[in-house]
Amino acid sequence: MSTDVEAWKRAAAIAAAEEIEDGMRLGLGTGSTVAHLLPAIAARNLRGLRCVATSVATERQAAELGIAVEPFSALTSLDLAIDGADQIAPDGWIVKGGGGAHTREKIVAAAAERFVVIADASKVVDALVAPVPLELLAYGLPATLAALGADGPTAVRAGAPPSPDGGVIADYAGDVSDPEALAARLSATPGVIDHGLFPPSLTSEVIVAGPDGPVRRALA
Ligand code: 5RP
Repeated sequence: MSTDVEAWKRAAAIAAAEEIEDGMRLGLGTGSTVAHLLPAIAARNLRGLRCVATSVATERQAAELGIAVEPFSALTSLDLAIDGADQIAPDGWIVKGGGGAHTREKIVAAAAERFVVIADASKVVDALVAPVPLELLAYGLPATLAALGADGPTAVRAGAPPSPDGGVIADYAGDVSDPEALAARLSATPGVIDHGLFPPSLTSEVIVAGPDGPVRRALA
């Protein structure tokens, strides 16, 4: 039985890579779990893949591994997207954006026929907790932060660079007990580009790996 979190991430990534087929249009997520996915994809020597990346880091690692990435202006939809998660709740709500890439990640997930989330067992939680990552427009930032602060402080993430699209990465630290209501409120707040709450309807399958290996759970 492995207790090595990196080995769990790798196991989940390898299991997800098995779902990729020749010729697929594939969305590549961001983070340390996805960093295990990319070599697993390269090792499969699949033909005709068309990939888009959710971050510069993923694009760079993919290029180093010989996985061709194209801009997400060349494709209107994807067959499969695979990405990591920060928290996975029992009801299928997921928090993403620890790497500040959640806006692109949500666009890619929504464009994919199947969105598969890969994670080590430490990401499974009984209930979601703050923070929820945000990407905010720089214009009017203090007003947006003030609007979001009514039930908990929301702050720009210290040291976080702007997103590749120029957005400001911040974290919402208020109540997360009703993710559906919070997601609606965040989406309705002017200046919020997007938030890191992913509804169960967006995710097709979660692959969580722990000491006993990868376990698949179908969602949407
Ligand atoms: C980046 C993300 C990541 O997928 C999430 O933070 C998980 O990262 P890791 O695999 O490094 O734990 O949402 O914005």
